[in-house]
Amino acid sequence: MSTLTEETMPPAPARELVRSWLRTPDPEDLGAVYAELRAAGPLVRAPWGAFLVPGYQDVRRALVDPALVMLDAAWRDERTPGWRASPATSALCDSLLMQNPPEHPVNRRPVVAALTLRSVTALDGMIRAQVRVAVEQFVLTLRQDRAADLIDDLCKPLPAAVLCRLVGFPGRDAGLLAGLASVISTGGEIRRPLDELLAADQVAGQLLCYLEQFTHQRDRSANGPALGDVTFSVDQLFALVVAGLITTTHLLGNLGDRLLRMPPEQQRSVTAPEHRAGLIEETLRWDPPVKLATRRADRPTVVGGRPVPAGTVLHLMIGAAHRDPARYPDPDHFDPGRDHRPGFPFGQGGHFCPGAALARAQAAAFLESFAPHLPAVRRSGRLVRRAGPSFTEPVGLPVSAARPATHGF
Ligand code: HEM
Repeated sequence: MSTLTEETMPPAPARELVRSWLRTPDPEDLGAVYAELRAAGPLVRAPWGAFLVPGYQDVRRALVDPALVMLDAAWRDERTPGWRASPATSALCDSLLMQNPPEHPVNRRPVVAALTLRSVTALDGMIRAQVRVAVEQFVLTLRQDRAADLIDDLCKPLPAAVLCRLVGFPGRDAGLLAGLASVISTGGEIRRPLDELLAADQVAGQLLCYLEQFTHQRDRSANGPALGDVTFSVDQLFALVVAGLITTTHLLGNLGDRLLRMPPEQQRSVTAPEHRAGLIEETLRWDPPVKLATRRADRPTVVGGRPVPAGTVLHLMIGAAHRDPARYPDPDHFDPGRDHRPGFPFGQGGHFCPGAALARAQAAAFLESFAPHLPAVRRSGRLVRRAGPSFTEPVGLPVSAARPATHGF
């Protein structure tokens, strides 16, 4: 008969520690919270019964552990009868975002095939042109109005405009889609208030209607998608909109905010073509747009050296793993010149992000187009973030036009 030992006994919930993590969206402050979580690890029990996994090596192994699977529709049917009353959760679970085999690879394959590095490289000219137009439009408006919001007016609509061009949505719908994606992603967040979840439900219905209409009309009159004759299903389009927009906005917003806080000579140096990749990768390490990958054990396994029974829910902490000093020396220091060691900003294993090449291409194009305009833009307030903890994307960054006398306006 097995006995409970220090090793196998489930630890008590770390209420205060988890509470302070839930209250901390700012990546400047998260380093200290992550350090405490790692010290309390390797598994930290949350008050809702799930376990947080903060260590780099533990997250790395868990992301590719076949015993750890998504919280899919079948699991919800068993545990939470009536969960289908939430359209946002339903739509998320009916898409590849939350599926497991055998459905998952079938739905995932066409998305991966359409967004390979090769196809994104072939579309690079189009992506750069689209980003350049958006940045120039933003700078023009800033010149006229003297004030703007970098997130609302540039970083939020831009990834949606690129997606519209790729799959054939009308370009005028970019703002609408960006707004819907932002609200719906709350449905995939942990510990959100009821009013936010209800808003996500309402908006999910709206997005599904939009996508159904789009796929129906597309059958009769193709809208010239840059991805060619790929015809995604409603569920696949839903996944692209929900997973691809707020994440890219997060990356672009962080890049913009970081650059605007640098002195001019550093701005010039980090945006030089040979340094752009380092800046993008360090931005993704320091504040990954997806901070948690949530999984459940569908059979007994081992995580962080501890036995994990079937049914256990785990939050694999990508954000904390990226600040693990065992992997990254001086991890809380933002250093675009550091010797880059890959992390998991795009996940790992069977759910690895199919949009990784597209997101990096947009970020590189953003640096290329935005860098020459940096002397014309000033931060005029603090960057505001969503509460998180999984998604903490920037939702506002007020900027103003630099003084005409010093910057030629
Ligand atoms: C900086 C931008 C982005 C980041 C940081 C990011 C991050 C991630 C991560 C971490 C996952 C895996 C989640 C998990 O394992 O639970 C994921 C999945 C996914 N991403 Fe991205 N993503 C980004 C941009 C995009 C873009 C541009 C698209 C497409 C337009 C996209 C589409 C998807 C899809 C469809 C999935 C689900 C894949 C699956 O479950 O098989 N993402 N993303």
